[in-house]
Amino acid sequence: MIKECTRTRMLKVLKLDVTMENIHCTSTILRRIFPGILVMIFVITFYKIFNDQQIITPKCSFDYLRGYFAKTGKYHSKGKWSENAWQPDGCILPKSDKSDQMRFIERNKLTSILVLGDSTAYRYHDAIQIQLDGIYGRRNCKAEKLEGLTDAKPFLPDREYFAEIPDVVTRERGCGGCHSITYSCNTSRASPKITTEFLSMDYFMDTSVTTRRETRTKTCKPNLTQFESWGVGCGSSLTTQEFIFNEYLATKTSSQYPQLIILVANFHDIKRHNVNSFKRTLTWFMDIVNQSTKEHPDTKIIWFQPTYILQTNQPIEYHNMISQTRNSELYENVKEVLTKYFDDNSGRFVPFYSLEDISHGVPDLNVDGIHYKKDFFIRIIQLFFDTLVS
Ligand SMILES: *[C@@H]1O[C@H](CO)[C@@H](O)[C@H](O)[C@H]1NC(C)=O
Ligand SMILES: *[C@@H]1O[C@H](CO)[C@@H](O)[C@H](O)[C@H]1NC(C)=O
Ligand SMILES: *[C@@H]1O[C@H](CO)[C@@H](O)[C@H](O)[C@H]1NC(C)=O
Repeated sequence: MIKECTRTRMLKVLKLDVTMENIHCTSTILRRIFPGILVMIFVITFYKIFNDQQIITPKCSFDYLRGYFAKTGKYHSKGKWSENAWQPDGCILPKSDKSDQMRFIERNKLTSILVLGDSTAYRYHDAIQIQLDGIYGRRNCKAEKLEGLTDAKPFLPDREYFAEIPDVVTRERGCGGCHSITYSCNTSRASPKITTEFLSMDYFMDTSVTTRRETRTKTCKPNLTQFESWGVGCGSSLTTQEFIFNEYLATKTSSQYPQLIILVANFHDIKRHNVNSFKRTLTWFMDIVNQSTKEHPDTKIIWFQPTYILQTNQPIEYHNMISQTRNSELYENVKEVLTKYFDDNSGRFVPFYSLEDISHGVPDLNVDGIHYKKDFFIRIIQLFFDTLVS
């Protein structure tokens, strides 16, 4: 007669102590654990398929965007607008929330961001401030320094903003609503203080903020720290761009130096240049950026393409100065200048999505042909943070 399969007998079988008296227990055990095995096989298969899917479809990270550009010669533009967000195709972009972003900032010790460009860049920066307000809490954020442009002279740069640099000479800019600003957020938590700065730069080569030192006028200062490594006695910045990169940023300590520099394509240059002169100007500008940032190999330089110019919203008097045809012609042609940097093995220069195509999809957010509504910039900066966190 078969004895009952008791717990003790089952345990014996499990300990491989199989004897005549408990051998019949084996089938009972198998019967009991069979559903468990099925579930396990199912889970493993599902996990494997899911993982393979992840391998086939990469995350929409900045590395992905750089690789995409290297492979196709294009800024990534496949995707669609859905629920007020841009959804890229061909890569996975998880939506990040405040705590994902805070974790990213803490893990990467992100303490400093710099945005350069015209009134469009100013608006992206404004959206970054709003994003940081969300992450840190509005009351933990404040404007530390602001160019005080007076109503009487809204185009004249404020020398006070650049007070640490001697011999600054200013001239009117082409942009009135683009004052430079330093904004920071700090909490009592262990996370470091974060600073984001917008520096007005409405052209890739201009003379709105410069320094000029001459032996004749005895304005040379051989011990200017910003030119120490150059070994020159009369270091000067004859353009705003040389001023920003060689002098202003050079006064920042390594912990203040921007880890992310966002270069935003401007609209002012397209009324000034033909293809060849624009290429020459951007080549010169990119060389300054490359040379002056090389002591900061961890700094990433991110290129933002221009947005789409919606002619139907544009006042008629601007039509022959700033048109979408010219916008796309000039920026399409300088792609070869930028490609050399995106291809650089250091990976320091990275392209963002084709904002030209992305903005083309939301004509209702366009204001006056050139500018977009605040919502547009908020959505793009969310896309920026999602890409950063990916
Ligand atoms: C950040 O805030 C905390 C208090 O909330 C303060 O102790 C700390 O000094 C601040 N850090 C900076 C860099 O301002
Ligand atoms: C730099 O040189 C000037 C004279 O050219 C001198 O007055 C000044 O003290 C020097 N500063 C430093 C930090 O050495
Ligand atoms: C950028 O600078 C580095 C270091 O000087 C140089 O090796 C590299 O060729 C430069 N990149 C381009 C695209 O000129």
